[in-house]
Amino acid sequence: MTISPSITTPAITIAARTPVATGVIALTLVPADGQDLPPWRPGAHVDVTLPSGLTRQYSLCGDPADRSSWRIAILLAQPSRGGSAWIHDHAREGVPLTVSAPRNLFTLEAAERYVFVAGGIGITPLLPMITEAERAGVPWTLWYGGRSRSSTAFTDELIQFGDRVHLVPRDTAGRIPITEVLDTPGAGTAVYCCGPESMIDAVQDACRDWEPGTVHVERFTPEAQEGTTAFDVHCARSGVDVRVEEGVSVLDALLEAGVEADYSCAQGFCGTCETRVVEGVPDHRDDYLDHSAAPDTMMICVSRSRCARLVLDL
Ligand code: FES
Repeated sequence: MTISPSITTPAITIAARTPVATGVIALTLVPADGQDLPPWRPGAHVDVTLPSGLTRQYSLCGDPADRSSWRIAILLAQPSRGGSAWIHDHAREGVPLTVSAPRNLFTLEAAERYVFVAGGIGITPLLPMITEAERAGVPWTLWYGGRSRSSTAFTDELIQFGDRVHLVPRDTAGRIPITEVLDTPGAGTAVYCCGPESMIDAVQDACRDWEPGTVHVERFTPEAQEGTTAFDVHCARSGVDVRVEEGVSVLDALLEAGVEADYSCAQGFCGTCETRVVEGVPDHRDDYLDHSAAPDTMMICVSRSRCARLVLDL
């Protein structure tokens, strides 16, 4: 297994663990040597490498001006692929963590006004954006949906902003009225959305008439593996045959069978697991490849097969 390349920060230790919603904990991370941490901007994430070698990416959700600590929040995934479960089970004050330097693929661009749209744990990259917008005196609104009020993280911090924050717990208020919220392209307005696939699709659809470059999204969750069917994978180089059951990713099936495969995000957006397809037709479900170009590679962490058997260059 190869872990994604990253600049390692000074040794990092957990200084505090705080429950912030049902199934969500926030960790305060500090440098063991007491020096300043590397700077970062809103939208940045860090890679956390667990003792198993698994790497998970978490948005920094504290104050970018605070160089003495970072904050990340971890939702216990159901089912967990091992990353969030390990953190929920083992992350305690004083525990060291391997954390990369911050990287930013979701930069907050200057705008005259912001509309933030968050779903669930997708609130995390938006919190520092709100902090920055506040400091800069730029008007903003937040629409924040979640399963229920109790599963909606950081509400204590957000209610101070009054009616600029619209909390939409699905069990009592339904879904965010995205079409209404974004029906009129706002001059100088930038939209930032982070949440599940369906929410991002709805935001992009609602903003199809907006100026290019005004809508910025970050996807957290891979396309669901539910409702999928099983298929076979043959590894051309190692000769290993693997059955990929429904609901199981190609990557997990390969690792389970002892096949060496590179990966990092395991969510279809980093490109680490790109694998050449020797035979068969992949069902692309990633956010990395240009699918219109009929790539001869696939992201094995999320993509599946359109035929009964795939042959991969592994
Ligand atoms: S591991 Fe990141 S795209 Fe597959």
